Amino acid sequence: MRFNPFNPQQPARPDFFVGREPEIITFEKFLVQTMHNSPMNLSVTGNRGMGKTSLLMKFEQIAKENSCLVVRLSNYESNVKDIIDLCDFIALNIKSEILSKKNLESLGEWIKAFKPTLGWNDFTLTLEKKQVAQELFRQKLIKLWEEAKPDFKAIVLLIDEAESLEKVSGALTFLREVFQRISSEANYMVVLAGKLNFPERMSESFSPLNRFFPTQRLKSLSRQEMKEYLERKLKTENVEITDETVNYIVEKSEGHPYVFVAMCYLIFDSLGEKDSLIDSTLIERTALKIKSHLAKDFFSPMFHPLSKKAKEILIAICKNSKKNEFTLKEAIKWSKETGSYLSPYILELLRKGILNKPERATYRIFHTLFLEYVLEVKEG
Ligand SMILES: Nc1ncnc2c1ncn2[C@@H]1O[C@H](COP(=O)(O)OP(=O)(O)OP(=O)(O)O)[C@@H](O)[C@H]1O
Ligand SMILES: [Mg+2]
Repeated sequence: MRFNPFNPQQPARPDFFVGREPEIITFEKFLVQTMHNSPMNLSVTGNRGMGKTSLLMKFEQIAKENSCLVVRLSNYESNVKDIIDLCDFIALNIKSEILSKKNLESLGEWIKAFKPTLGWNDFTLTLEKKQVAQELFRQKLIKLWEEAKPDFKAIVLLIDEAESLEKVSGALTFLREVFQRISSEANYMVVLAGKLNFPERMSESFSPLNRFFPTQRLKSLSRQEMKEYLERKLKTENVEITDETVNYIVEKSEGHPYVFVAMCYLIFDSLGEKDSLIDSTLIERTALKIKSHLAKDFFSPMFHPLSKKAKEILIAICKNSKKNEFTLKEAIKWSKETGSYLSPYILELLRKGILNKPERATYRIFHTLFLEYVLEVKEG
């Protein structure tokens, strides 16, 4: 079996990471601020598969090179039901990171001592509970920073899939309050990544969350970036690719990182055992495979959870729009519904990352291949 250098299931390895220069520069600036006792935070937002986790891993590498302690958190859905769980979860993760770096005491003992000292169960009133939680969490974080300080210049908290924290009532505001208040005493930098809603909702007002976690929105990869990635990966396996084929992949993927890497994976997968050139004949052989793979692994899980009405509206839009961009007025005409009837469904499609809103009153279906998929579902 031949080794395939592409893997759409895994975030990019930092050594094969391409692009995202503006985001990286911002991160580096804010990191330097934080390391010099003036903490700054940020957030990264982007649709499914746009490269948020990959970027966090790049941030992790940079922060570690700068002698910072890095704690990357995700998958808390089962661990975090409320703010108190969140405090425990964050503190526990920082502590275990410090211990794993220092190799001092055993983590198990610390965990045993950890929970009881907090005694959350005594507090029944939500507000009171929250204030006490805040105070205890702050103290805990400062203590953890004191422990880490001799060896590290800052503690960088990378919080992936942060959209699930938006569902925990008040959690992001809570984090903002806590980290703002300790910023003069401890060098913590918090980076949120996910399909975040707060930048959308409050983009017009200058909201505290937007100010505390200024948002970087991930865009499509450029042609140059995709080319660089392809060539670097293929070189490891001594495989060449024609310019024509690069163009095809660039165009079809539209710079969407997941779609792009999935295409690369499937194309490489179709290469014969002894072949060492990717050209247009190979692409022709792979086209159907790409289509069915994307339908199954990416598009269908996005389409099927939609409400019945949102599906109908989406189908009407896909059927009528010649390209993947359309206006609200057109959507009204095509769906034969009023604007006020339509708007909650348009909102649903925006929230689920199926539509983007590049300008006022203009919408864009996130990927042309998705549009084609919807048309086929409708017929099938
Ligand atoms: N900057 C990049 N350079 C190279 N490959 C990338 C880059 N960004 C993303 N990719 C590739 O795109 C795919 C999706 O990336 P990633 O998992 O980071 O996206 P995500 O936004 O975290 O997705 P999800 O919304 O599902 O969590 C991965 O296969 C990854 O290797
Ligand atoms: Mg991710």
